[in-house]
Amino acid sequence: MSKIYKIAVIPGDGIGPEVMDECVKVLNIVAERDRRFSFEFTTFPWGCEYYLEHKEMMPANGIEILKDYDAILLGAVGYPGVPDHISLRDLLLRIRHDFDQYVNLRPIKLLAGAPCPLEGVKPEDVDMIFIRENSEGEYSGQGAWLYKDTPREVVIQDGVFSRMGCERIIRYAFEIAKKEGKTLTSISKGNALNYSMVLWDEVFNDLKAEYPEVETYSLLVDAAAMNMIKNPKRFQVCVTSNLFGDILTDLGAAIAGGMGLAAGANLNPERNFPSMFEPIHGSAPDIAGKQIANPLASVWSASQLLDFFGYEEWGAAVLHAIEQILPEKEYLTPDQGGTATTSECGDRICEIMKTIELFPALED
Ligand code: NAD
Ligand code: IPM
Ligand code: MN
Repeated sequence: MSKIYKIAVIPGDGIGPEVMDECVKVLNIVAERDRRFSFEFTTFPWGCEYYLEHKEMMPANGIEILKDYDAILLGAVGYPGVPDHISLRDLLLRIRHDFDQYVNLRPIKLLAGAPCPLEGVKPEDVDMIFIRENSEGEYSGQGAWLYKDTPREVVIQDGVFSRMGCERIIRYAFEIAKKEGKTLTSISKGNALNYSMVLWDEVFNDLKAEYPEVETYSLLVDAAAMNMIKNPKRFQVCVTSNLFGDILTDLGAAIAGGMGLAAGANLNPERNFPSMFEPIHGSAPDIAGKQIANPLASVWSASQLLDFFGYEEWGAAVLHAIEQILPEKEYLTPDQGGTATTSECGDRICEIMKTIELFPALED
C-alpha cells in the first residue's frame, strides 16, 4: 500500500507562489516515479493579501488546521502594505514557535556549477550545515514598549535562552557531527552578551564530554563572519543562536550561489508536530509577479522534505538535478545569469527528475 503524505502548502506573498508552483511540480514527479508514496497537497491562501481582507495572517484556528498535516511547504511571507513585524510574527514565526520547530537546518553547500563570489573557492571548500536555534533566543518576541510616543520612550527586547533550549539544539548539532564524522563549531558572543551567550557556551562545553569523538571549536560571531569569507573550508557543522544563524546563513547563501539557491528546514525532530520546509529568501517584492524568481531554493527545500520523510535517495536526486541544470545555463533565471523564466527553470528540473537514474529498482 502506498503511503499518502498530507502536505499543507502556504505559498504566501511576492515570489512565494511563483517558486512554490515549481517545488510542488518536482515533488509530484518524485511521487509519480516512486510507488511507495504519494502527496496530497492542500493550499492555504494565507499571507499579506489575506491579512488586508481579514485583519489576520491566518484564521484563528490556523495552527489547529495545520496540525493534521505531515509537513508544511512555505513560499515566502511579507509584503509592503503590511508591517513586517505583524506579517512575519503572526504567520512564519508563529508556526515555527507553536510547532516547536526548534531546529532550523540550513545547508550552506556550493553545488558544482553554482557561482561563488570568492576567488579560488571551489565546491569542496563550501560544505557546511548550519543548525540555527529556531524557537527562542533573540527572536522570542518578548519585551516591552514603555512611555510610547513620549520623549521618555523605552523599548526592551528580551533574548530568552533556556538551558533546555540551548541543550536540545546543541545536542542535535553534536549528533549530526557525530553521525557524519564532521567537526562542530559553536558560534556565540559570550564576551558581550554576558548572560545568554555565557549560558550557551557553558552548555556547549558540558556536552563536549558526552561526544569525545567530535572535534569541536568555539568562535565569536564577528570572527566567524570574517572566517566564513576568508576560510569557508574550516566550517563543517555549525550551531548558533536564532539571530546569529539568521544573519550568517544569508552570508552563507551569498558564498554558496546566492539567495536563489538557499533552503532551510524548520524541524520538530520529535515529530510531535509537522515540520516546515522553505527557501530562506523572502518575498522579493522587487521582482515579484515577473516570473523571474529563481525556484531552485524552493526546490532544494523539497529535497529536504524528502530527506526528512526518509527518502534520502530522492533528496539526493533533487540536488543532482540542480547540479545538472546549473552548468547547462540555458534554463537558469536572471539572478544566475540566465534568461529562463521561473517555470522554465522548474520544467527543466522536472524533465531531469523524470529520467534521473539513481535507484531504478524503487519504481516497481
Ligand atoms: P528577500 O530575500 O526577499 O530579497 C533580497 C534580494 O534577493 C532581493 O534583491 C531579491 O530580488 C533577491 N532574491 C530573493 N530571492 C530570490 C529568488 N528566489 N530569485 C531571485 N532573486 C531573489 O529579502 P528582503 O528584501 O530583505 O525582504 C523582503 C520581504 O520578505 C520582507 O517583507 C521580509 O520581511 C520578508 N522575508 C521573508 C522571509 C520568509 O518568508 N522566510 C525571509 C526573509 C525575508
Ligand atoms: C529567515 C527570515 C526570518 C527569520 C524572518 C523573515 C522573520 O529572515 O527565515 O531567515 O529571521 O527567521
Ligand atoms: Mn533570514
